[in-house]
Amino acid sequence: MKRAIIVGASSGIGWELAIQLDRAGYQLGLMARREDQLLQLRQQLTGAHIVQTVDVTHCEQAQVQLQALIERMQEVDMVILNAGVGLREKALEWDSQCAMIDVNVRGFCAMAVVSMQYFEARGEGHLVGISSLAAHVSGSMMPTYHATKAYVSSYLEGLRARVGRKRLSITITTVEPGFVATPMVEGNPPWMASVERAVAQMMTAIMRRKNHVYVTRRWRIVAWLAYVTPNSVLRKFL
Ligand SMILES: NC(=O)c1ccc[n+]([C@@H]2O[C@H](COP(=O)([O-])OP(=O)(O)OC[C@H]3O[C@@H](n4cnc5c(N)ncnc54)[C@H](OP(=O)(O)O)[C@@H]3O)[C@@H](O)[C@H]2O)c1
Repeated sequence: MKRAIIVGASSGIGWELAIQLDRAGYQLGLMARREDQLLQLRQQLTGAHIVQTVDVTHCEQAQVQLQALIERMQEVDMVILNAGVGLREKALEWDSQCAMIDVNVRGFCAMAVVSMQYFEARGEGHLVGISSLAAHVSGSMMPTYHATKAYVSSYLEGLRARVGRKRLSITITTVEPGFVATPMVEGNPPWMASVERAVAQMMTAIMRRKNHVYVTRRWRIVAWLAYVTPNSVLRKFL
């Protein structure tokens, strides 16, 4: 049996990943702050899954909790780092900036390092990081969010270089979604995918051990446009 941990399983993309991985026969470790949500999720699943609360902003404590969960599961093939916060920044307020940096950068990195240390000691593994298309372009509405996701994508690229250089049998998959219909997204932005469809595409890339995937696939065009369009034009839209 394959075993995976999802950090940020209590809602949205993480919740749906749990449903689709359960269907694929994985035993899961489900992590997030809201235990009631995780228990409700577990009730909907068929396998014998483990719930472990975590607040990734309490980095050192979260690292101990992740290590303990790995030990409890005995073997873990994959860790999916999905926990994330996206807040609008109409005013530049430190509180919301700090909340995003704490979860998307500090928390992400704290969980990634524990996962990588485990996989390196084990000799194999699969780390999946949920970044965002926002990594490729900045914008006036959420400058901090874009910057945190650029960190996530860049850090994962660095880890991929590290495992390549050390010839380790570890896969690093960077997932960069566009808009996905979850509680994080307000309104009805263009090209919004249902969470079921978005996660089905993530699952295909994860099972094929891809290095990188845009979700849905059409967002690769936007990523390309972000690099070829002059800033003076981009600034009119973002
Ligand atoms: N939806 C989109 O359009 C979209 C697009 C691109 C990228 N993404 C990325 O996809 C990921 C999932 O987002 P989503 O759309 O599914 O949002 P969501 O429904 O709000 O889910 C966010 C998840 O992160 C967890 N989380 C937040 N703060 C945490 C903390 N301090 N400690 C532990 N877990 C924490 C939440 O659990 P608790 O609140 O229970 O702790 C929840 O499970 C994020 O990284 C997001 O940046 C989303």
